[in-house]
Amino acid sequence: MIGRDTLARDLDRARQRTLALTDFDDAELHRQYNPLMSPLVWDLAHIGQQEELWLLRDGDPHRPGMLPANIEGLYDAFVHSRASRVDLPLLSPAQSRAYCRSVRAAALEVLDTLPDRDDDAEVAFRFGLVISHENQHDETMLQALNLRSGAPILAQRSALPAGRPGVAGTSVLVAGGPFVLGVDAQDEPLSLDNERPAHVVDVPAFRIGRVPVTNAEWRQFVDDGGYLQQRWWSPRGWEHRVQADLSAPEFWNRDGSRTRFGHVEEIPGDEPVQHVSFFEAEAYAAWAGARLPTEIEWEKAAAWDHAASVRRRYPWGPDEPSARLANLGGEALRPAPVGAYPAGASACGAEQMLGDVWEWTTSPLRPWPGFTPMIYQRYSEPFFDGDFHVLRGGSWAVAADTLRPSFRNWDHPIRRQIFSGVRLAWDV
Ligand SMILES: [Fe+2]
Repeated sequence: MIGRDTLARDLDRARQRTLALTDFDDAELHRQYNPLMSPLVWDLAHIGQQEELWLLRDGDPHRPGMLPANIEGLYDAFVHSRASRVDLPLLSPAQSRAYCRSVRAAALEVLDTLPDRDDDAEVAFRFGLVISHENQHDETMLQALNLRSGAPILAQRSALPAGRPGVAGTSVLVAGGPFVLGVDAQDEPLSLDNERPAHVVDVPAFRIGRVPVTNAEWRQFVDDGGYLQQRWWSPRGWEHRVQADLSAPEFWNRDGSRTRFGHVEEIPGDEPVQHVSFFEAEAYAAWAGARLPTEIEWEKAAAWDHAASVRRRYPWGPDEPSARLANLGGEALRPAPVGAYPAGASACGAEQMLGDVWEWTTSPLRPWPGFTPMIYQRYSEPFFDGDFHVLRGGSWAVAADTLRPSFRNWDHPIRRQIFSGVRLAWDV
């Protein structure tokens, strides 16, 4: 059972992030940086609306809430596409902040009742869901802010450790055999529906990159004409590459620099490549004589201790993530160089499995056998069997308290405004 203090701390941490990412004037918050993203003011009130729905209204949108129904409807992500949200009569930033404050005050009163309730595990789970939701929107807002044109308005707020030479391009062996894929509520009470249930899967031996693919490695792919040679690309991937005229990761400039949150800078060679689509990842892997991992292989490399035949809570063991173990939390505004977290290695020796960049896998999003939808039924279910690929491991922008080796993210294979990168795999 997750304690009340932990939930209160994580709620507050998420809110501090949200407020920092929306601490701009009204015109800024109403801007649409890119049709792929909502204006920040939409995310702000939507965060409050979801918190109210799951914690104060038992997930029932027909129960009267704090907002008039016609206003609340503006924040339904399934009704209004991201591209259309800028034209909606949204709450002002001041109204959005006041609404979020009112919801939070009432939510903290519910949290106070937690230890006396019969349904405490379910209520704690709902708090975890709300914390995860807010943190996921904070990452989405960072994606939006990265697409913003103009002088920088965000600055890096934490330093990153140095990398280690000699790790880029190396791989580790993941021993063959069965392992426990996914998690159950008793071990991970805040895990979401698509991470459950735990079940045994047999995975033959394979090799996986010790670290993610770096910018320097990707540069070789570009220089070798990788974007111009159809043989490295899947038919769909090639069609997209031609139509979208892709020639490098998003945010790489023609003069060899890159733009990151408005900063134009040299591309660090030892940093994991970011902002590549699944199609590009797949082509890179083919060019490199490798392939992408399945998400099941990825999770085994991250969580399974073959020698002890046990699943670890985190790649490195039971300790909560910290700045010594992984680059998480969103303050760095960038991935850390490869080799920066030797203490964060998994049992098989893979490093930087959590944090830095989301890693594309070949797997479409599917339910694990025995899947049961959670109270937020539309979180996972509508996306099964769609045109999505699973990404694993979280990026630098993910909050440490919402990430686990079992956590699954997914997106369309053409998307690259996300903080996505690549880790290679090989058959043995
Ligand atoms: Fe949402």
